[in-house]
Amino acid sequence: MDIFRIEGPVQLSGAVAVNGSKNATLPIMAAAILAAGKSTLKSVPRLSDIFLFARLLRQLGCKVGKGQNGDLCIDSTTIDNSVGEYEIVRRMRASICILGPLLARCGRAEVSMPGGCAIGDRPVDIHLRGLRELGAQIHLKKGYIIAETPNGLKGKEIFLGGPFGSTVLGTANVLMAATLAKGKTVIESAACEPEIADLANCLNTMGAKISGIGSPRLIIDGVKQLRPAVYQVIPDRIEAGTFMIAAAITKGRLQLNNCRLEDMMAVVNALRNIGVTVESADNGCVVARNGPIKPADITTQPYPGFPTDLQAQFMALLVLAEGNSVIIEKVFPDRFMHVAELNRMAANLRKEGPAVIVAGVKNLIAAPVMASDLRASAALVLAGLAAQGTTVVSRVYHIDRGYERIEERLNPVGAKINRESP
Ligand code: EPU
Repeated sequence: MDIFRIEGPVQLSGAVAVNGSKNATLPIMAAAILAAGKSTLKSVPRLSDIFLFARLLRQLGCKVGKGQNGDLCIDSTTIDNSVGEYEIVRRMRASICILGPLLARCGRAEVSMPGGCAIGDRPVDIHLRGLRELGAQIHLKKGYIIAETPNGLKGKEIFLGGPFGSTVLGTANVLMAATLAKGKTVIESAACEPEIADLANCLNTMGAKISGIGSPRLIIDGVKQLRPAVYQVIPDRIEAGTFMIAAAITKGRLQLNNCRLEDMMAVVNALRNIGVTVESADNGCVVARNGPIKPADITTQPYPGFPTDLQAQFMALLVLAEGNSVIIEKVFPDRFMHVAELNRMAANLRKEGPAVIVAGVKNLIAAPVMASDLRASAALVLAGLAAQGTTVVSRVYHIDRGYERIEERLNPVGAKINRESP
């Protein structure tokens, strides 16, 4: 298991390119199941989650390989297995989004029921409710979700909201299944995340008929079949946000290339409010901080609200604010594994239910810390850049799930992150 040894404090300066979005790519890879033939995806990041999803698709019978310019090619001509095994699903919850496409293409799907994870319980009841509304018969057997469509899928008006608002992968599952259902489906309270819009745009390139893209009301006119497509995934707004916070926490200046500010207005607004400048530039933006960090109140929400996937990283930044901040987590109320680790680095954080009170401190002090999930580990790396001394982050495999070789991206702009394999 690799570790990071991070020397701090540093001041970042220079240009960084943002990769394609992990969370857009994963459901789009699942969408390739819907159309027999060879799909080509461009700007796919080289991440362990993507490789694991490729393994899942291979288990179903797809051929997955590298094309020109690092493109990802998925040949789904043959699907001869409709089982998503526990061994993969337990390691990556996004595996659940093969359920809808498999059901639509094969009339049957068996996917291991995902368990909880470091960020919370993460149930899939809304996914199942939506697929049932389309006519699927679903039951659980030995920890597996067994879904069948004896009479085919039929379009319907479906309300997909839940106790925490919309669901991203739940919307992806129902949307993908509805593209091949008979008749018209309306999904109310659909997730509006740019990754879902990207999936819908990709499905339309494949011949689907989806309108209302980017809104909470998706309208899908079912088609008989879809064709494979060549599709370029959007830039990763969470990686971009993490790099923006890296510039801010180190009092540096970074130019981000391949970044869509329009997907990140809540984050840009939050950064500007605390004294960070974010200016749009050709194909990206420039982020810099000169003065002190002001405190803030942040509440995570489904898009277009402040993303839960940047909550931990933003908390690392507010730790150094001049005053007290409050962070409320409204998407995953237990997503606070980073709190205790940041406190080991001399932060002053107090968890109160689904909220954390951040009392600003002057300095972070390096310490050995442990990564617990993807975004929590990104927060620890950011804290390590600003902390005095050598921070050792263990269990770096968590960060490799969502950031491609982060040390090779940040070291050229002034970071001192050393990967070691003990
Ligand atoms: N929820 C339910 N029932 C469901 C589905 C969700 O109650 O059937 C609840 C969840 O427990 C949560 C809320 O609804 O409280 C929202 O969860 P959502 O379903 O939107 O999350 P997800 O689709 O499983 C995706 C991302 C996550 C990101 C969330 C929220 C991917 C592969 N994963 O998960 O990304 O945090 O949306 O934006 O797209 C990450 O990249 O680090 C990550 C965890």
